[in-house]
Amino acid sequence: MKLLKDLRAEHDLIDQMLDSFRTAVIQLSHGQARPKDLLRFITFFRVIADEFHHAREEEVLFAVLVNQLQLPGDRGPIAVMTDDHRKFRVLLDQIQQLIEQRTLSPAEQVQLRTATERYIESMQHHIDAENSVLFVEGEICLRDAGISELACRGLTAKEMKIRFTAEELMHRYPPTANVEIIRGDGCPLCPAYQVTCDGYEREWAKVSRWGRAEEDDPLPD
Ligand SMILES: [Fe+2]
Ligand SMILES: [Fe+2]
Repeated sequence: MKLLKDLRAEHDLIDQMLDSFRTAVIQLSHGQARPKDLLRFITFFRVIADEFHHAREEEVLFAVLVNQLQLPGDRGPIAVMTDDHRKFRVLLDQIQQLIEQRTLSPAEQVQLRTATERYIESMQHHIDAENSVLFVEGEICLRDAGISELACRGLTAKEMKIRFTAEELMHRYPPTANVEIIRGDGCPLCPAYQVTCDGYEREWAKVSRWGRAEEDDPLPD
């Protein structure tokens, strides 16, 4: 499905930009990065990650899964991902406010690094959860429902201009991965697992292949 392929490619770009943003924030604390560049990262995450990428997930993919396939939108993976999008916006606001201050006290510098790392880490877990669970299982559900493609919009001229700042920023601030973040596939590595979501097998039991497998079980409990 082209939409899912596009969303995955956007994840790759956003993921690299998150690691590049980490480099820029580290450099800022040493007086080696320009605050203006940090604001360009914010603009990229606000426009490309949120207004373009997250909006298409919510308005196209999640909307079809909920409205046409009757997957739950108020709990489970879709609710977790949608709530993440909202939390990312709040974090971006906090980070932007700190960057826009001309001088930061030591406590505010710690606040900036903490908020930034929280944003980067939670976005990367979010990307892993979508790539390995929601997109995979969602595509199976869509295919079973006879839906092989979903129409969606492309980048506007303004978004395109911002999208092309990514290479320049990544060149100037080479991505730094946080090797302490344990990343990987599947529900158990999602921070929401067994906190606000029981995992797609249980949450999507009626619609997903797991629910049907249960119905087909020749030896039910
Ligand atoms: Fe998302
Ligand atoms: Fe995404």
